[in-house]
Amino acid sequence: MYLTKDEEKILDGEAGWGKKKAMEILMAIGEIYKADKLIKIDNAHVSGASYKNLGDAGLEFLKDLSIDAKVVVDTTLNPIGLDRIQWQWMNIDPKFVEKQMEVLSAYKKMGISDVCTCTPYYLKDIKQGENLSWAESSAIVYANSVLKAKTNRESGISALASAIIGKTPNYGYLLSENRIPNISININDKIQDSDYGILGFLTGSLIKGKIPYFFLSSTPLDDELKHLGAGLASSGSVALFYYGYNRSSSREQNNILNGDIKFRRADQRYLDDLKFDEEIEITKKDIDEVYTEKKHKDADLVVIGCPHCSVSELKRINSLLKNKKVKKDFMICTSRYIKDSHKDLIKDIEASGARVICDTCPVVSPLRGYSCAMVNSGKAYNYMPTMNNIPTKIGTTEECINESLVV
Ligand code: F3S
Repeated sequence: MYLTKDEEKILDGEAGWGKKKAMEILMAIGEIYKADKLIKIDNAHVSGASYKNLGDAGLEFLKDLSIDAKVVVDTTLNPIGLDRIQWQWMNIDPKFVEKQMEVLSAYKKMGISDVCTCTPYYLKDIKQGENLSWAESSAIVYANSVLKAKTNRESGISALASAIIGKTPNYGYLLSENRIPNISININDKIQDSDYGILGFLTGSLIKGKIPYFFLSSTPLDDELKHLGAGLASSGSVALFYYGYNRSSSREQNNILNGDIKFRRADQRYLDDLKFDEEIEITKKDIDEVYTEKKHKDADLVVIGCPHCSVSELKRINSLLKNKKVKKDFMICTSRYIKDSHKDLIKDIEASGARVICDTCPVVSPLRGYSCAMVNSGKAYNYMPTMNNIPTKIGTTEECINESLVV
């Protein structure tokens, strides 16, 4: 990979140990993926913030790096292992809290925002075509597919290295030729709400790292696309998807709905001309089978907010909870940014007894002691049994709320 003279100096250690380490990481990635050069990024999002995943070795590395390294672009952080205010309610060990706060201090020392969320796109304005270096698979796929920005599937450490240098190796999803869909997924039935997360979960496990084009029969909300992407990225290694109406719709309609005019112009292709390696059909019946898989178990924990809730999701939850009292632990995860800027909405939700949790989520926190969880997210459904050892079932948002109301 070609380096400029200034980049070579950083690699030689002239800008300090932290920057040298960051440049070494980018060099190694660039060599592996045969990048031609480093390109500037507009912002970064770093994962690997929970002490549960980092352990002491990760914490020590971050502390060392923070001695002389600072990020040079706007950089946000993924959820940590606890809610900074409600950690006692979450039953988190004080020793874990201490270590987690050390992790957070190291990131803050490097200049990284401490709004710990997997939905950084609700706090920063991402423009179409921007080059990003993002970790967190659900955010990556949202950035590429819905916001039409460009990022590779970064790890926490590679996103951090890019944030420190302000650049990323030029390869993969940063190049138009690698952003062409190669498999079509046909959904002829109308779907909504958690159906999208399940669709993502089912599709990801079938297509692994391919780039799907979803032919839908209904118009998805941005929140539904968020769940589609999170499910896809959790069971496959999908970083980009496209979507449009079924093929019988006009080309123009498909391209407008898809919103990726750049893609169309860059490749001079129309949807009808695209050649897919494979076509898969997923039906509502396939989706419904996932709902009923573990339905028989009673949940003692209900979780909504994987990925972290948007304001519109919180408003919907509030309307469904109005004048009701929850009877079991009910965690609604969102960013502290949204919680602090919508105090009345949060107060109304919490009047039901549900907890609006920030900074964290059940998957990255050391949550224990529940016999069954109910979620409305394909990603949480996929991860909670393995990451938290909690058997998990999935329902619609409304079903999750109804579950929280019964003893
Ligand atoms: Fe976010 Fe945690 Fe889900 S980080 S995407 S809420 S697993």
